[in-house]
Amino acid sequence: MNFTVAIDGPAAAGKGTISEQVAEAFGFAHLDTGLIYRATAARVLEGEDAIEAARDLRPADLRRDDLRTPEVAQMASQIAAQSEVRAALTEFQKDFARRDGGAVLDGRDIGTVICPLAEVKLFVTASPEVRAERRFLELSGKGMDVTRAGVLDDVVARDTRDAQRETAPMKAASDAITIDTSEMDIGTAVAKAIGHVREALAR
Ligand code: C5P
Repeated sequence: MNFTVAIDGPAAAGKGTISEQVAEAFGFAHLDTGLIYRATAARVLEGEDAIEAARDLRPADLRRDDLRTPEVAQMASQIAAQSEVRAALTEFQKDFARRDGGAVLDGRDIGTVICPLAEVKLFVTASPEVRAERRFLELSGKGMDVTRAGVLDDVVARDTRDAQRETAPMKAASDAITIDTSEMDIGTAVAKAIGHVREALAR
């Protein structure tokens, strides 16, 4: 069975948790596509050329334990604006989406570019302040030296760049369902997402 759930949205809106839980609920495979851009960025921060790093990306790169830092996130957003970098990473994502047994992909351009025919498209968002607070708690909880104001600046800079780039900008597909988690706990957001997938499967 081919069945694809595309989940897009800005940084720290809850996409990751929702995607993991949807995948678990239906036994689908999950790909966090942000990790691919972060893994490429980590190699760029070590001095490699972005396009070469993207073309040569390996599974071990995605397992690095230093991909969740603010520095890697900013570099990911910068290299993600290059069309050659995106082109090098497209086929892997499309293949993943078409695998047997169902797939959930989360990112910025999944419903618009990678899987325009996905059976379910969700756009998960929240206000910048709410998202920055969540990301601040996540990063400071891991012992990282971050401030609320710094995290808010980072999140806004990244969203602006991701939404305004020419190639595959972050946006909701015209047929995506928006879930705004600003005033919603994560359990409710997950339940809504699962409900939409269940409905589509029943169709
Ligand atoms: O989702 P995450 O915050 O890990 O993504 C890091 C960066 O990778 C994003 O800010 C964005 O620039 C880029 N990205 C993208 N397209 C995707 C997923 C991530 O451009 N599908």
